Amino acid sequence: MPLRGFEANYVSYSPETDPVFTISIPQVVKFGFGVAREVGFEAKRLGLRRVALVVGRRLAETRLAEEVRSSLEEAGVSVKVVTKVKIEPDDEAVMEAYREIKDERLDGFVALGGGSTIDTAKMLNLLHTYPRPLEDYINRPVGKGLSPPGPLKPLIAIPTTAGTGSESTNVAVVDVVRLKVKTGISNPYMRPTVALIDPLTTITMPPMVTASSGLDVLNHAIESFTSHPYTSKPRIEDPSQRPVYSGATPLGDLFGAQAIVWVDRYLRRAYADPLDLEARYYMMLAASIAGLGFGHVGVHVPHAMAYPIAGMVREYYPPDYEFGYPIVPHGIATSIPAGYAFKRLTAYNFPKFREIVKLVKGVEVATPREAGEELFDYYMKLLEDLRVPTSLREIGYKEGDLEALVDGTLKQQRLLTLSPKRISKRDLEEIFKDALG
Ligand SMILES: [Fe+2]
Repeated sequence: MPLRGFEANYVSYSPETDPVFTISIPQVVKFGFGVAREVGFEAKRLGLRRVALVVGRRLAETRLAEEVRSSLEEAGVSVKVVTKVKIEPDDEAVMEAYREIKDERLDGFVALGGGSTIDTAKMLNLLHTYPRPLEDYINRPVGKGLSPPGPLKPLIAIPTTAGTGSESTNVAVVDVVRLKVKTGISNPYMRPTVALIDPLTTITMPPMVTASSGLDVLNHAIESFTSHPYTSKPRIEDPSQRPVYSGATPLGDLFGAQAIVWVDRYLRRAYADPLDLEARYYMMLAASIAGLGFGHVGVHVPHAMAYPIAGMVREYYPPDYEFGYPIVPHGIATSIPAGYAFKRLTAYNFPKFREIVKLVKGVEVATPREAGEELFDYYMKLLEDLRVPTSLREIGYKEGDLEALVDGTLKQQRLLTLSPKRISKRDLEEIFKDALG
């Protein structure tokens, strides 16, 4: 798909700015119906003999998990099953799972599940390969932000939700219980070695999980597409210090724009009919390419706001997420603020926002204000169609929470710096006030 008018942003060469972007992807990405069953072949190819299969408790009892396990065993790979996976994992849950495998001789990991499972497997791999307190690896300022000294053990990721893109990123998201903060671990070694992306694994996703993960894809795509260009950040003298997230790149633009189109075309269909294979196929592909895009470009304001929105939850129990504890699923936490945030950001990257409006609504807008309104309407309508709340009030937040929500977002500087506009405390207060509804 031709994208117009963004090329010049990237072709700048100045001594002050960084002229390089990096795209790191798994060694092997395989896509297709039934490809999950090739896990045994891939593990054998990597020379693995004993792996931890990280899989949530419910999924562990399904035929899919059984097929993955037998594929491994038939290839001569023995399996230690780890089901201690918390949705939206926290450091204590990760440590609990780690204690189960600490003394096991493992030479690799297989993750079967959504973003929470893949992220848990990434952290278990990190701890198992280079044991240290988890906090040492957690991004600054919450943790010490240390990078492991070298590569981890091979990790084969098999995503079962079309959302996070975690199978191709080097980031794991984790709550730190003691500080009540959601943060992450990101370093180049966290990325899975192999991603087996099988749309058939997603047909059992219930509607709300389909909606939430699909909205996450849309936000990855829109946020990475509209972030400031990688060439606008200061030059980096030491390549090891170049941040994982670069800001928008020409390749990220291609992935983001196409993912926006596919989500627009297929998310409602996948939500309405779980067995719509065409919709499942393209949602999975959209999730993967959006992951390849934001995995190197980054995301900005809605994702930064989602951290405290998910972290401070008290009383929201969405359908299809009956875990016995309140939860704001990641895709919902990013999509409630997204429409409000985009509306206030359109003026700061008008060409990109105008393009998005054209992609999803087929109309040419003349002013940033028009673009903001069109995109806001589109977004709210989409949330309503998917029966996802459109305000923070609907998930239990009140005026008295605003300050803590703003402060929690300000801690996500790594993401906020990618916003097309430099974000102040005041900006966040206004967006949160809008989103409270
Ligand atoms: Fe996300």
